[in-house]
Amino acid sequence: VKIIAYGIRDDEKPYLDQWSKDKGIEVKAVAELLDESTVDQAKGYDGAVVYQQKPYTAEVLDKLASFGIKSLSLRNVGVDNVDADAIKRNDIKVTNVPAYSPNAIAELAATQLMRLLRRTNTFDCKIANGDLRWAPDIADELDQMTVGVIATGRIGRAAINIYKGFGAKIIAYDIFHNPELEKEGIYVDTLDELYAQADVISLHSPATKENEHMFNDEAFGKMKDGVFIINPARGALVDTDALIRALDSGKVAGAALDVYEDEVGIFNTDFGSFDAIPDERLKNLIKRENVLVTPHIAFFTKTAVKNMVQFALNSNVNLIEKGSDESQVKF
Ligand code: COI
Repeated sequence: VKIIAYGIRDDEKPYLDQWSKDKGIEVKAVAELLDESTVDQAKGYDGAVVYQQKPYTAEVLDKLASFGIKSLSLRNVGVDNVDADAIKRNDIKVTNVPAYSPNAIAELAATQLMRLLRRTNTFDCKIANGDLRWAPDIADELDQMTVGVIATGRIGRAAINIYKGFGAKIIAYDIFHNPELEKEGIYVDTLDELYAQADVISLHSPATKENEHMFNDEAFGKMKDGVFIINPARGALVDTDALIRALDSGKVAGAALDVYEDEVGIFNTDFGSFDAIPDERLKNLIKRENVLVTPHIAFFTKTAVKNMVQFALNSNVNLIEKGSDESQVKF
């Protein structure tokens, strides 16, 4: 078995090398992402392990298949950038890593929520300017609040556990009801009910065609005044212009955004200065004391990165050798 791994970062390389040594399987690591200009490097390999946010295009997938590569393992969870028609047409088997570390995402969500509630960003700014006064930045306590969790997959459930630890009341919305949570009676039947009751909304849903911009002007209009929004899921879920309007009006009291709808090519890049960031809308958000932007770092923990690399390699070997894997994605 010979595997090619695309887009391997320096922080991933030691985990890949360790796996290759332990399993005695050859893995060619390339730093470049999988695209039209790099796909030819895959010739002669049995499978490809990949991670990128830019699209896996039909042209690239057709080419992989023409080289006989029908085993594609993503090192991440989201599959929204894969051309589903090309996957089906070429009969390519795809795996993802659905649970590299749900807690990694949940911990960042909770961290940022607590920072918002305790106004730490504002106090950091005040302290830097020598202003050590308390008022007017009085905080909210999570144990007095209702957190509405949208989507109760592994990440949503990890977030619920942490929020519960802070004493919050939890309500949740999902099309699929988790049996344990169902017993606790936390599900509401509609998003409108969640919007009407939640002081904090924590988003943990994948992005689909159906839920694009689910947080638009209409949705914000249904939420409680002064709601806090936590999004470590996907930028496409939130209409950024609508969010900015809701922040301006005070409808949204604060937002923690680890994702942004136009993040590809911007996040995980060093522009050298704040002014050089080439996205005015993003800068508008970053400049606000009640908005905490992080550049899609929720997954970026040692545990998660190790698991992303090693679980994806294991899945790829299973696809190659057995033709199936428990993390196979249905398209
Ligand atoms: C995912 O796993 O889908 C993520 O969003 C994390 C990615 C940036 C590595």
